[in-house]
Amino acid sequence: MSKSERELIVRKIENGTVIDHIPAGYALHVLKILGISGKEGMRIAIVMNVESKKLGKKDIVKVENIELSEETVNRIALIAPTATINIIRNYKVVMKRKVRIPEVIEGLITCINPRCITNQPREPVTPRFRVISKNPLKIVCEYCETIMEHSEIIRQLIGE
Ligand code: CTP
Ligand code: ZN
Repeated sequence: MSKSERELIVRKIENGTVIDHIPAGYALHVLKILGISGKEGMRIAIVMNVESKKLGKKDIVKVENIELSEETVNRIALIAPTATINIIRNYKVVMKRKVRIPEVIEGLITCINPRCITNQPREPVTPRFRVISKNPLKIVCEYCETIMEHSEIIRQLIGE
């Protein structure tokens, strides 16, 4: 299918956010991060496993009439590190940015080591991880040196 034919199926949006270049198969995870079930009423397009020059295949999520908070963008980065966030106003892309995996992740993830100081109820220590690999994503706890893989990070972020 040509690009123009595909664009007929998933048309341009007037106002909202397009999350593009999501690794193929991860669009539903991204929706989960957005906290969208579909019952809210805004128009949403989910495109999965379409051709991409950069990624081979990719997913796209388009949501009308929302803009994302910085924390949401950070969570998306941890799920879909290749994603691009496009803000659309009046049919035009007014802002385009790549998500970025930070060097240090604070607060979004908890350590899987039950004995880690960050998991002790009497010690209010905010979990902190250093990113040791971006592709595949791997992080290490700054307190107990436990390494966590991308699958575990995703599991925590989408709450399954
Ligand atoms: N888009 C949309 N509605 C608009 C404008 C753009 O849904 N009114 C979508 C496009 O279909 C595309 C994304 O937003 O998936 C980014 O648009 P654009 O920057 O025009 O596309 P590209 O140049 O292909 O983007 P990139 O360089 O990031 O690959
Ligand atoms: Zn730890």
